[in-house]
Amino acid sequence: MINKGIILAGGSGTRLSPLTKAVNKQLLPIYDKPLIFYPLSILMLANIKNILMIVNPGQIENFKSLLGDGKRFGIKIQYKIQKKPKGLADAFILGKSFIKRDNVALILGDNFFYGQSLTDKLEKSLTHNKGARIFLKNVKKPENFGVAKIVNKKIKKIVEKPRKFISDYAITGLYFFDNEVVNYAKKLKPSKRGEIEITDILNIYKNNENLSYEHIGRGAIWSD
Ligand code: DAU
Repeated sequence: MINKGIILAGGSGTRLSPLTKAVNKQLLPIYDKPLIFYPLSILMLANIKNILMIVNPGQIENFKSLLGDGKRFGIKIQYKIQKKPKGLADAFILGKSFIKRDNVALILGDNFFYGQSLTDKLEKSLTHNKGARIFLKNVKKPENFGVAKIVNKKIKKIVEKPRKFISDYAITGLYFFDNEVVNYAKKLKPSKRGEIEITDILNIYKNNENLSYEHIGRGAIWSD
């Protein structure tokens, strides 16, 4: 079972500057709610009620005044500051004392998922006790994402932002991991772009034949 979740909502948000100079991307509105409500509700749909929110130093008070300790949503929210955007895998280093010996879900604070078919897929994924599980979606520009190549329904290759086409299956920002993820994250070396990459963790799981996936079909929307 997975009953802990991390929302990674730090980062420098340079692409949306100057909009994000004073306010994090995750706090900007999508329709009538701040973006962060959408990934939070995905974890809640998955019945994950124990949540760690990782934010950058300048934004913690904004997040706290918006979400507080989570009680009013019937969940528990704790906060951790990420001083610098070191990479997505940093979530498991910063989150070590929150995760303890449990399995954990990670969702990116700027990812937007919508669609009825998702609930079933989430529930199915929660019962995975071993390995990692990712959610794939066909995209037009795979070079902007982590990408998975599938052969005979198995993941053959994972590449972060491939320059050459290998597949149009983007890896979305929702991941389920067993507790090994904490050990794997510790061993990572920064990539060429200077980040510790979640795709490097996924490659370890893949090489151990412990990586599975769900395909987010046409019935659902995803964007980041
Ligand atoms: O959205 C899915 C994609 O997210 C995946 O397909 C890629 O494999 C994965 O590397 C990631 O790619 P991006 O280049 O889009 O990640 P980005 O740097 O934009 O960060 C995603 C979110 O995580 C963003 O809201 C900021 C936050 N973040 C990022 C980093 C690197 C942090 O909070 N801390 C960090 O250290």
